[in-house]
Amino acid sequence: MRIVLVGPPGAGKGTQATRLAETLQIPHISTGDLFRANISQGTELGLRAKSYMDAGQLVPDQVTIGMAQDRMEQPDAAGGFLLDGFPRNVAQAEALDEMLREADMKIDAVLDLEVPEDEVVKRIAGRRICRNDSAHVFHLTYNPPAAEGVCDVCGGELYQRDDDSEATVRRRLEVYHTQTEPIIDYYRAQGLVTTVSAMGKVADVTKRAMAALPGS
Ligand code: AP5
Ligand code: ZN
Repeated sequence: MRIVLVGPPGAGKGTQATRLAETLQIPHISTGDLFRANISQGTELGLRAKSYMDAGQLVPDQVTIGMAQDRMEQPDAAGGFLLDGFPRNVAQAEALDEMLREADMKIDAVLDLEVPEDEVVKRIAGRRICRNDSAHVFHLTYNPPAAEGVCDVCGGELYQRDDDSEATVRRRLEVYHTQTEPIIDYYRAQGLVTTVSAMGKVADVTKRAMAALPGS
C-alpha cells in the first residue's frame, strides 16, 4: 500500500507514521527526517536544506523531489511506503504522480490529520527528540521521558529541534496553509482523501487512521 500522510506541523504525523508503518510493514519515509539526517552527517544536501528549514520555509523542489525519489526507489519501498511530509506542495504532488505513473503504480490513500492550531503549538513547544533515532519522540507534558533529557528507549540525549521556536512554528503554519493545504484538494479530486481527527490519545488516532485505509 502507498499512503500519503498530510497535516500541519506538530499534528502527530511522525508519531502516527512510525506506528502505521510498523503495523503495515512498509517503510516510513519522512523528508524532514531525511533532511535532518543529512544535516547531522554534514552532507552538501544537508547544508543546502538547513537555511530553509531554520527559516520555516520549504526546501526547493529540485532538492526535495530528487531526494524523495531516491528513497522511494530503494528495494525496501518496492512493495509500498508511507510518506510523511512529502508531497508538500502541488508541484511535488504532480511530480510524485508522474513518477508513480511511469512505474505503473499509484497512491492508495491520503490521510489528512486534523488538529486545531492551539493544540499544534502546544505539541511542538513540548516536543523533545532523541539524537540517536528520530522515531524516539517525547513530549514534556503528554509523553514525558522517565529521566529529564534522556531517551527512554535507547538512553540517547533528547533535544529540541532548531525550527521549533515559536516564531519559526508560526512561519511553518503559514507555509502549511498557503502551500501544503492545496494538495488536499488535489488528492480530493482523485477521491483519495480521508480526514482523521488527530485529537485524543495516540493509540486512538492510530485506530482511526487504520480504519480509514482501504480494505480495512
Ligand atoms: P518536517 O520534519 O516534516 O516537520 P513538520 O511537517 O513541520 O512536522 P513535525 O515533524 O513538526 O510534526 P509531526 O506532525 O511529525 O508531529 P510529531 O509526531 O513529531 O519538516 C521540517 C522542515 O523540513 C520543513 O519546515 C521544511 O523546511 C523541510 N521539509 C520537509 N519536507 C519537505 C518537503 N517535502 N518539501 C520541502 N521542504 C520540506 O508530534 C509532535 C509532538 O506532539 C510530539 O512531541 C509528540 O510526542 C506529540 N504528540 C503526537 N501525537 C499526540 C497526541 N495524540 N496527543 C498528545 N501529544 C501528541
Ligand atoms: Zn532514543
